[in-house]
Amino acid sequence: MTRLRRVGMVLALTLAAALVLPVASAAADASAASAVVRPAEPVIASAHRLATEAGHRVLAEGGNAFDAAIAVSATLGLVEPESSGIGGGGFFLLRRASDGHVVFVDARERAPMAATRDMFLDGDGQPIPERSINGPLAAGIPGLPAGLVHLAERYGRLPLERSLMPAIELAERGWPWGAKNQTMIGWRQKVLEADRGARALFLPGGKPPAVGTRMRNPDYARTLRRLARDGFDGFYRGETARRLVDGVRRAGGIWTLEDLAAYRVVEREPLRIAYRGAEIVTAPPPSSGGVALAQMLGILSAFDLAALGDAGRVHAIVEAMRRAYRDRAIYLGDPDHVEIPVALLTHPAYAAGLRAGISLERATPSDLLPGISAKPGSDQTTHFSIIDAEGNLAAVTQTVNLPFGNGIVIPGTGFVLNNEMDDFSVKPGVPNAFGLIGEDANAVAPGRRPLSSMTPTFVLAPDRVTVLGTPGGSRIISMVLLGILGVLDGHGAQDIAAAPRFHHQYLPDTLSAEPGALAPDVIEALKAKGHVVSQGERTWGNMQVASWWLGDGRVEAGFDPRWKSASVDEPSDGAIFR
Ligand code: GLY
Repeated sequence: MTRLRRVGMVLALTLAAALVLPVASAAADASAASAVVRPAEPVIASAHRLATEAGHRVLAEGGNAFDAAIAVSATLGLVEPESSGIGGGGFFLLRRASDGHVVFVDARERAPMAATRDMFLDGDGQPIPERSINGPLAAGIPGLPAGLVHLAERYGRLPLERSLMPAIELAERGWPWGAKNQTMIGWRQKVLEADRGARALFLPGGKPPAVGTRMRNPDYARTLRRLARDGFDGFYRGETARRLVDGVRRAGGIWTLEDLAAYRVVEREPLRIAYRGAEIVTAPPPSSGGVALAQMLGILSAFDLAALGDAGRVHAIVEAMRRAYRDRAIYLGDPDHVEIPVALLTHPAYAAGLRAGISLERATPSDLLPGISAKPGSDQTTHFSIIDAEGNLAAVTQTVNLPFGNGIVIPGTGFVLNNEMDDFSVKPGVPNAFGLIGEDANAVAPGRRPLSSMTPTFVLAPDRVTVLGTPGGSRIISMVLLGILGVLDGHGAQDIAAAPRFHHQYLPDTLSAEPGALAPDVIEALKAKGHVVSQGERTWGNMQVASWWLGDGRVEAGFDPRWKSASVDEPSDGAIFR
């Protein structure tokens, strides 16, 4: 394995590397490139202040963006356990400044080898309520720990132990329970109550901790120390593996020691999309995000969105979303197990064909586009974006799926298990109008990775590099699309993270919008075009954006304000810790 050495990163090398940034951009001409200035300082945007601080500490100790990603990831797993953790999985999109190498590290969960296609159906072929969501069968084999080890061995500069140390120390010392943690427990309290390990960790004294309560998790610290000491084997073999398999099987699950030992991350080629003079580098399958983005941007590339007016712009974007989400539901799955026509789906000619069916005057009823239902997703998951002072980039989206995953904490481990098995189509086999077996590409199968919407993304424009992503289930992809358009319209990172959002996912045939996303006259104009508009109370997502201006080296972080209490450490009673 090659490991980046801590060689003196002379300015000339950094600049030379930075020159290759907008690789496929037609606008990346010599004059634009010659203006590239390395970042004035590193920038990290994450969903929790303590995770961001952990990343900065590792950078200050000589680590690069990839070491910092390990620190942020492991700390989020501790302080934002409802969203992600080492019991789950994630995608790491990386760009190395020294040579422009981009890679997508797929640390997605895998189905255990004893998984079967119908494991979530009853004798009549009907889904058994909640079996893929709560309890031991809902969990896939975690991928995140292997991802952290892989980053340290292949791309980091510090030993894994140094990068994990902020999370280890925080777990031992304690940290304050936040408002978002508390809200999320409210959603999953019954499930957590049913599990002894989850009760002990998240419901001390039988109820959710008050905001500001000092939490400690020594089991998590010990689990991370084993990972730091033994690398892959520190989680996937030995004590942690034994505890996990014993605990899952005792609860009625099907994991084996072989499942854990056989887990591997996969390095994949990111998808690259040329759009409006920029190159978008993003997530390939088993994420559905990159393919959908390629389709949507391909469709939109022929429209002058600014000239369409507010309602016309939203209409065109929604029609692009409608078509991409339809294809998502039909064609996408684990590329190591099913044939996915990525080249076809992302080809400009295919986008042109889809565009030809769009009327700028009338909404296309989704019924007229043969296909199958796209499953709505949950709001959990988390994303962080890092640019270090050398220009290394990391976009990481990680998850345990629904809040607190499957609600099980195996005693002695300190983390929740995921419920990523619910990201499979638990009841495949519905043929679509083309005779394809609908959702077959994403059926449960042993060793298969469930289809994801997580879409960590780089926008490499001639004047600016942006790293972005968000949680939000099926809405992730449309949020990232709006984020990309925001970057290319010249908005700052904070404005992009804060911008009100709208979404369409083919079925249900509804244009949903956050409060304030669409002005009343725009809603009326969209209704007149035939859209069913639902502008509700709800907000969604938790977008984290980092931008670097190549002209003067300025950097900027954009934090989603929707969960600004996520990292609260000054609760209303004024106490930081109780
Ligand atoms: N579990 C959410 C996703 O992977 O899309």
